[in-house]
Amino acid sequence: METVDLGAYGEEFNADPYPYYAKLRASGPVHHVRTRLGHEVWLVVGHAEARAALADPRLSKSPAAAGLERMLDEQLIGPHLLVVDPPDHTRLRKLIAREFTGRRVEALRPRVQAITDKLLDAMDGTERRADLVDALAFPLPITVICELLGVPAADRARFRAWSTEIVAPTGADPELEAIHALAAYLDELIEDKRCSGPTDDLLSALLRTRAEDGDRLSSAELRAMAYLLLIAGHETTVNLISNGVRALFAHPEQLAALRADFGLLDGAVEEVLRYDGPVETATARFALEPVPVGDTVIPAGDCVLVGLAAGDRDAARFPDPDRFDIRRDTGGHLAFGHGIHYCLGAPLARLEARVALRALLERFPSLELDPSAGPLDWLPGLLMRGVRRLPVRW
Ligand code: HEM
Repeated sequence: METVDLGAYGEEFNADPYPYYAKLRASGPVHHVRTRLGHEVWLVVGHAEARAALADPRLSKSPAAAGLERMLDEQLIGPHLLVVDPPDHTRLRKLIAREFTGRRVEALRPRVQAITDKLLDAMDGTERRADLVDALAFPLPITVICELLGVPAADRARFRAWSTEIVAPTGADPELEAIHALAAYLDELIEDKRCSGPTDDLLSALLRTRAEDGDRLSSAELRAMAYLLLIAGHETTVNLISNGVRALFAHPEQLAALRADFGLLDGAVEEVLRYDGPVETATARFALEPVPVGDTVIPAGDCVLVGLAAGDRDAARFPDPDRFDIRRDTGGHLAFGHGIHYCLGAPLARLEARVALRALLERFPSLELDPSAGPLDWLPGLLMRGVRRLPVRW
C-alpha cells in the first residue's frame, strides 16, 4: 500500500483536515501514512473500522507489550492509563473511576457555574473584545481540574506551555523538554503534599492509597496519574469550548436556534463533539499480532492511530456528515473514544462545555468572532484539534 505523506499537506491540513480525510476514506477505511514529524503509522478513517479498532484487545496501548520501545512520556513520567493494558489498566482505572461518575460530577455544577460567571465578569470589564481561549476556554477547565487534584492555582501558568507542547508538539526537542519540565514539577508537587499532610483533594487521596497499600500504586504510577489527569482534564475541554464557539458562529441559523431554545444545548454540545471534536486521533495503539482492520492487515509491532474526527464525518454512519446540525442524532460518535479506554472525564467535559456555552451566549447577546484578528493559529499535530487563540468582540 502506498504511504500517504500527511506532512506534505501543510498548514491547510491543520486548518481543515476533513476534506483530506474524506478523500482518503473514499479509497478505503485504513491507510499507511507518514506524519509531519516523520512517524509512519496506520490511520483508520472509517467509522465502523475505527470503533472496531478501539475495542480490539490485539491493538495494545503498551508499546512494550508489542516489543517496542516505551513511549516518551511513559519513560519519563511513568505508566498511565493510556499506555497500559489490563490487568494494570483495570487496577489503575478503578482507583479513580468513582471520582468522575455522572453523580459526582453533577455535584460540581455550582462550582463550575461560579467559576464561569467570574470569568465572564472579568471579560465583561474589558474593551468589548477578548481572546476567548484566554478569557474562558482555558481558565475554566484548568481551574476545575486543579481544584479537584489539589494543584495550586499559582502554578497554572508554569505548566500551561508544557502541557500544550505535549499534546501538540512543535518538534521533538521542545516536546522532550516539556515532558522533563512537567515531570520535575509533578515530583515537587507530590513531595510538597507528602510533607504538608493530607488535604481534601484527589492527589492527596491517591497518596494515601499509596501509603496504605503500596503495591496498588507505585510512585511512578502516582506521578503518571497526576500527569494524565492534569493534561487530559483541560487541554481537551479548552478545545471543546472554543471549537463549539467556532462551529456555532460559523452556522448562524444553528446559533439562533440554540439562543432561542436552550433545551437544544445538550444536543448542540454532542454535535460539536461529532462535527469538530477536540481529539482528532486517539492515542497510539500497537498490533500484538497481525490484526485485520477493515480490509487491511496491520503487521505485528506497527502503530495504529484511530481517526476519531475522521470516523465522525463518515457518511456511512452520519448522513450528510459535513453539515453542522445541533438537532441531529449524534449517537455513536467517537469523540470520547470507545471500549475500555473510553474517556473517564466525559461527564465533566460535558458539564463544563454546557455551562460555559450557555453562560457565554446569555451574557453576550451581540458576541461575534473578530474578523479583524487575522488568520487562526491552529494547533499542530494529529492529536488535538483546535486554535491557540479565538478573538471575539461584542
Ligand atoms: C471534551 C473533552 C474531552 C475529550 C474530547 C476527551 C477525549 C478522550 C478520548 C478520545 C480518550 C480515549 C483515548 C484513546 O482511547 O486513545 C480519553 C481518555 C481519557 N480521558 Fe478524556 N477527553 C476529554 C476530557 C477529559 C477530562 C475533563 C478528563 C479528566 C478529568 C479526561 C480524562 C481522561 C482519562 C483519564 C482518559 C484515559 C482513560 C483510560 O485509558 O481508561 N478527559 N479522553
